[in-house]
Amino acid sequence: MSIPVTLIPGDGIGPSIADATVRILAAAGADIAWDRQVAGMAGVARWNDPIPDITLDSIKRTRLALKGPLETPVGDGFRSINVALRKTFDLYANVRPAYTIVPGRFDNVDIVLVRENTEGLYIGVEHYIKIGDDPRAAAESVAIITRLGSERIVRYAFDYAIAHNRKKVTLVHKANILKFSQGLFLDVGRMVAQEYAGRVQFEERIIDAMAMHLVMRPESFDVVVTTNLFGDILSDEISGLVGGLGLAPGANIGATAAIFEAVHGTAPDIAGKNIANPGALILAACMMLEHIGDRERAQRIRSAFETTVRDGSVVPRDLGGTASTDQFTDAIIARLE
Ligand code: NAI
Repeated sequence: MSIPVTLIPGDGIGPSIADATVRILAAAGADIAWDRQVAGMAGVARWNDPIPDITLDSIKRTRLALKGPLETPVGDGFRSINVALRKTFDLYANVRPAYTIVPGRFDNVDIVLVRENTEGLYIGVEHYIKIGDDPRAAAESVAIITRLGSERIVRYAFDYAIAHNRKKVTLVHKANILKFSQGLFLDVGRMVAQEYAGRVQFEERIIDAMAMHLVMRPESFDVVVTTNLFGDILSDEISGLVGGLGLAPGANIGATAAIFEAVHGTAPDIAGKNIANPGALILAACMMLEHIGDRERAQRIRSAFETTVRDGSVVPRDLGGTASTDQFTDAIIARLE
């Protein structure tokens, strides 16, 4: 029976990279019933809402979505897309794998960053403090870390490590300074780690040292788990180790749904030119296949993709070639057989 998945092609280059991804999945024989829905500017054009209820309802039904990049409309009155998705589906784990495809500055990077997505400094509890006549003399932002939130994200990282045959989880924190919030995250992390002792190795790193270790010996890291703000920064740093955002997929895993996406934006400068690299969305679709247990197909697509990229003769402009999106897609499909 085919598996229903909500497809949000997105804005800018979104529709063209989504078409490429759908073609590749079909060529690999994935039996998916795509439920096409709009969001972003396409959502505003059709329903006057960047995250229409009909799209949210579709994800509620399918519990799985593949999402192209979305342009956030400027101006008040529109709901924030990411906030709406995160809140509706409690998308607590942001998973960002990055690995070397073409050896460059580093040859053997293979890191999966697991970022807590709903707590920490990004919860939006902020206010100004008036001193004397100045209403904005100071500002305060609150970071909230909960035992429950810490436990489920660290547990997710360990379960991911076991499911993907990975050896080590590195927990990144700043408990030496932020003794309460980061201290709680670290304490809970150590407790959870004990349950996995003997099966997955555990280590701790302080965020500033981690930033340095990542550029000095990235090959020594495996699964990395951290809080929201640190994860936001480290995930881009890790993408940079393997050639930037063009090949960076991401997954947002929640209690009630999972949404897979390309990490890059809508690339308005190249939209409509048939030159965008669909790689990040293709790799995101592979993560989705793995998530639903179709590992063999995910691996087959990934290996056709990697061989095409390594071969280098039919690759798009951002990977140093001259191929169009369609030609690159055809070259990957040709390697699937
Ligand atoms: P961007 O990622 O769209 O573009 C940055 C640069 O990378 C551009 O030169 C672009 O041509 C290039 N690029 C990006 N993806 C590419 C691909 N697949 N193939 C070839 N080249 C690619 O970032 P920018 O310009 O900051 O944002 C543009 C729009 O995207 C904004 O409206 C922003 O809000 C939105 N955005 C949406 C995201 C999402 O929905 N996940 C994430 C980031 C930005």
